Amino acid sequence: MSLELKPLHPKFVAEAWGVDLKSPLSDSDRKAINAAMNQYGVLVWRDQFLSGEEQIEFSQSFGELDIGLKRVFKRKERLPDERLIDISNVALDGQLHQRDSAKNLSSFANQLWHSDSSFMSPKAAYSMLQSLVIPSEGGNTEFTDLRAAYDELTPALKQELEGLSAEHYALHTRILLGDDAYTDEQKKAIPPAIWPLIQTHPGSGRKLLFVGVHAQRIVDWPIAEGRIFLLDLLEHATQRHLVYSHQWRVGDLVMWDNRSTLHRGRRYDLNQRRELRRTTLNDYQQPELSAG
Ligand code: OGA
Ligand code: MN
Repeated sequence: MSLELKPLHPKFVAEAWGVDLKSPLSDSDRKAINAAMNQYGVLVWRDQFLSGEEQIEFSQSFGELDIGLKRVFKRKERLPDERLIDISNVALDGQLHQRDSAKNLSSFANQLWHSDSSFMSPKAAYSMLQSLVIPSEGGNTEFTDLRAAYDELTPALKQELEGLSAEHYALHTRILLGDDAYTDEQKKAIPPAIWPLIQTHPGSGRKLLFVGVHAQRIVDWPIAEGRIFLLDLLEHATQRHLVYSHQWRVGDLVMWDNRSTLHRGRRYDLNQRRELRRTTLNDYQQPELSAG
């Protein structure tokens, strides 16, 4: 069999099947998946039960993996390999985290619209998220398409945004959520990254509006004016008709392109377990992820 696709959202999300993600990918399967990612932006694979190692293997067939914010926190982690990012409310002892734990704070930050690691350079390309345990309700993950967001800007806004850049900072969302007790060393561990607001997606050649909650200011603008404009643009980019809401089933593996989409988690009952496991590719010298 080879890759099959069925759109789940008219523009940018498809269900994918027909490729065994547990075995080494053939060149043609890898190219087909890249082409689908370039066209869509989010692929949903059902009934995948990859082990951590299998997830790393699968993810690495597309490029180099990155650990993102772990550079700052250096916490003791539940998952055995640092390239596996624990997206859960479960503590080291297997119990649920305390309500006010630092880990839950990270989950709340994930509930703000973002592109993974946009606060770093290189930023992230694909993320792969495997679901292991899901709560009985809530906890969806929503995605939006930044290329469609660009297409729907007025001509005047397109023109105004050309040439503007935003500064993205790793701790901006944490500070926003009331967590500002960081050492100077932690504050400097990941210096801010500057990204143009209008970018061209290397995978499809389409323009996109690169916003998201890690953006803390517009370069050369007064802070308040820039923040209000960024919020306005984020609101534009996340209008309901642009959004796909993924309702998780155990065994789903969802992969998305952080270069062309934003995502956020949705609220759920913290007294219920929610466990997902992420791998993320950095967007650095990965020519295969560009359209040929
Ligand atoms: C992520 C993320 C949201 C969620 O894993 O990068 O933002 O729904 N997750 O858990
Ligand atoms: Mn994320």
